Amino acid sequence: MELEREGTAAIQAAASSDELERLRVELLGRKGRLTGILRGLGQMEPDQRPAVGAEANRIKAALSEELDARIEEEAQSASPSSGPSVDLTLPGRARWQGRDHPVTLVVDEICEIFRDLGFARVQGPEAETVEYNFEKLNTPLDHPAADMHDTFFLGEGIVLRTHTSPMQARVMEKFAPPVRVVVPGTVYRRDSFDASHAPGFEQLEGLAVDEGITFVDFRATITEFARRFFGPTTKTRFRPSYFPFTEPSAEVDVSCQICEGSGCSACKRTGWMEIMGAGMVDPAVFEAVGYDAERYTGFAFGMGPARIAMQRYRIPDIRLFYENDVRFLEQFG
Ligand code: PHE
Repeated sequence: MELEREGTAAIQAAASSDELERLRVELLGRKGRLTGILRGLGQMEPDQRPAVGAEANRIKAALSEELDARIEEEAQSASPSSGPSVDLTLPGRARWQGRDHPVTLVVDEICEIFRDLGFARVQGPEAETVEYNFEKLNTPLDHPAADMHDTFFLGEGIVLRTHTSPMQARVMEKFAPPVRVVVPGTVYRRDSFDASHAPGFEQLEGLAVDEGITFVDFRATITEFARRFFGPTTKTRFRPSYFPFTEPSAEVDVSCQICEGSGCSACKRTGWMEIMGAGMVDPAVFEAVGYDAERYTGFAFGMGPARIAMQRYRIPDIRLFYENDVRFLEQFG
């Protein structure tokens, strides 16, 4: 009978005890198909009743037996006493061990060197006011220097900071001199995303203010930092530059780590690599934050840890820092 074939096939195919339980109700239950046949016997011709009845009962018993066997089987395979449900020969699951991002490693190392030179490490907001990002740094918004920043504007008077320099003003407003801080953090510019630019990247600001700080202190501090970070034979070079908030301003180069100054493709045959913009704090900035510009002097600098990490680890494309490919990240730290 068709019902027997169908029922047996369904029981064989059932993949769980829940499914088998459902089949029992469907096939043998009070509203099931076999019960229906047996109930209908009364309406049949009397001479057919015994044969149909017997056949229906036989099928009912057969299906019931089949069901019991399969339910037993399912119970066996699910129970732990029925043999190992854990395959002890499977290789174990590797635990992912996190590590520091290469740029973080460089930031921490720079901060540690400056800590040894007496600088505290502080942080500041990434959403910054125009006042701090520009105005207190002697940079009116209509100044061409402000244009150069390719600023992301968030709202009236609020920007994503384009550099960490606003923290110079925030720190000086909060603390009386002497001040010595380094400020690592992310900054944002509407730059293209290519091998050497990213719209958000790390900067590290430094500021030292006290009575009697001169350009000699500035040079000595930066040169000492370069020797500690890049190695004792590293040379430094200060080139004149311009920033609205430093006077005089400089760009600082270190002798190329790869060719040691003789010229290679990494330093574009110059023998030098630029590591920071810097200078003596402009008196206009002291006035903006309420410091006595007659009494105090200081120096400030801003460097790009990602650039420095690229030089140190010979990474050809800054985008590798953003892709979070573990095969890349695993090589550091
Ligand atoms: N803020 C400057 C920049 O982003 C760098 C800088 C910092 C220059 C401090 C001088 C002093 O380019």
